[in-house]
Amino acid sequence: MNYKNILANALSKKSPDELIATSKKSELKKTLNVFDLIVIGIGAVVGTGIFTIIGTAIQGGPESVGAGPAIIISMILAVIACVFSALCYSEISAMIPVAGSVYTYTYATMGEFMAWMVGWILMLEYAIGNITVASAWTGYFTQFLKGFKHVLPDFIVNFPMWLRNDYRYMFAYCDKWGLDPHSQMPFIFDKIPVAINLPAIAIVLVLTMLLIKGVKESTRVASIMVGVNMFMILSFIIVGAFYVKPENWTPFMPGGFEGVFMGAFLIFFAYIGFDAISTTAEETENPQRDLPIAILGTLVICTILYVCVALVLTGTVPLGHIDIQAPIAHAMRAIGKDWFAGLISIGALCALTSVLLIYQLGTTRILYAMSRDRFLPKSLRLIHKKFRTPHVLTWISGIVVIVCALFMDLNISAELCNYGTFTSFIIICIAVLILRKTDPDRERPFKVPFSPLFPILGIITCGGLMIYSMNSLTTSSIYFPLWMLMGLAIYVGYGYKQKRLEEKIKLQRQPRTQQKVKVTGQ
Ligand code: ALA
Repeated sequence: MNYKNILANALSKKSPDELIATSKKSELKKTLNVFDLIVIGIGAVVGTGIFTIIGTAIQGGPESVGAGPAIIISMILAVIACVFSALCYSEISAMIPVAGSVYTYTYATMGEFMAWMVGWILMLEYAIGNITVASAWTGYFTQFLKGFKHVLPDFIVNFPMWLRNDYRYMFAYCDKWGLDPHSQMPFIFDKIPVAINLPAIAIVLVLTMLLIKGVKESTRVASIMVGVNMFMILSFIIVGAFYVKPENWTPFMPGGFEGVFMGAFLIFFAYIGFDAISTTAEETENPQRDLPIAILGTLVICTILYVCVALVLTGTVPLGHIDIQAPIAHAMRAIGKDWFAGLISIGALCALTSVLLIYQLGTTRILYAMSRDRFLPKSLRLIHKKFRTPHVLTWISGIVVIVCALFMDLNISAELCNYGTFTSFIIICIAVLILRKTDPDRERPFKVPFSPLFPILGIITCGGLMIYSMNSLTTSSIYFPLWMLMGLAIYVGYGYKQKRLEEKIKLQRQPRTQQKVKVTGQ
């Protein structure tokens, strides 16, 4: 075995020109404008983080110190970590506007092996992250139904727990309350427990079908969802502002710097998603102009909204009384606006639905790019004849979320999602630094200011947050390297061989073409 050859193959890169040429042959429809992209951005960003996680970030949890009103500093710290990577995303996605996001950019800068690994890691952010969101969706859906307890029959409002939770949760629940599991859920042959998260499965199925119908149709639905959730968040800020008591903002930093940093780590989840915009580059009408505007615009809009929400939340509810599960809805209840709390649940459901939709869109587009590069079988990237969408991959990504939602621990999936995101943010910063050296003359419609300082700061801030979290989260910090090993095994067992086969076929074709040219020349 020639190790030098293997290494050279693993490091072989695709030139940006080659990538752009492949994307020009793309069968995907180019229908998205800057408005659609910002809708995708806000739809992917505003979700579980601001509607749920903010409560724990302010108040603290079993393993974390709360930031208190200083959550606004945590938010600014988290957005600083994102901004450096967002600038890098903007530079590269405007320069190489092709599907696949950081996966494709890695191919152009670090070669075949790293590209595959990055694609594999991105699945943590998009597909595994969606498992968490699907489960949170069930939680809000249950809250939403409870709001109709005087209208709907009891069997709908309080539908059985085994139809809205996975079996692990059911066992933990029975353990906690000393209940016999057989009295809480059915068992097949008295041995196999039956517990399924039905609302999560139903919403993922509906969204899968919607995505197959078309990306434009899907973003139209997402824009309605984003519209509803923006309206709810703005109403919360405006209504709540009249009930703010400035004395609630003291003490401002009850958890000290530890609380602020832990808050920054937790609330980082609320910013994940803006990179989903770059996964749709091939379906964008004017990617060079629209991608940077949409990526940075999304971050600016979300940060302003988040800081306002945090100020109102900490200003209306005294510290120690902030709810962990539905903090925003609870704040409205705390000021005596019960009906408004119900409306907030609708806003939260819309926000989570759009996150689910856009993450699934991102999953399929990255898998599409990986399959086009032969890392995955060709049959997977079949395009639907009528709707012109990658329907096989869309089904696969939906089914993976459904199956994992049946048994996967949801906290672990959220932490894995964070690791995937940190890694992809670091890689995009490295990619900018490499391309500035290897391809300095290529036209850059958007340039990261103060390079190499900003990309380096991006690597340091994201790397710092990642290492900080790995210290305390033991289970996921073991799963993460295991996931990487699994990726390595698939590359060695399948991807590497397929790539060499592709090269062989290309080489065999070359002489024939040359022959043809010769014959024509005579
Ligand atoms: N940022 C997304 C959310 O908060 C992942 O749900």
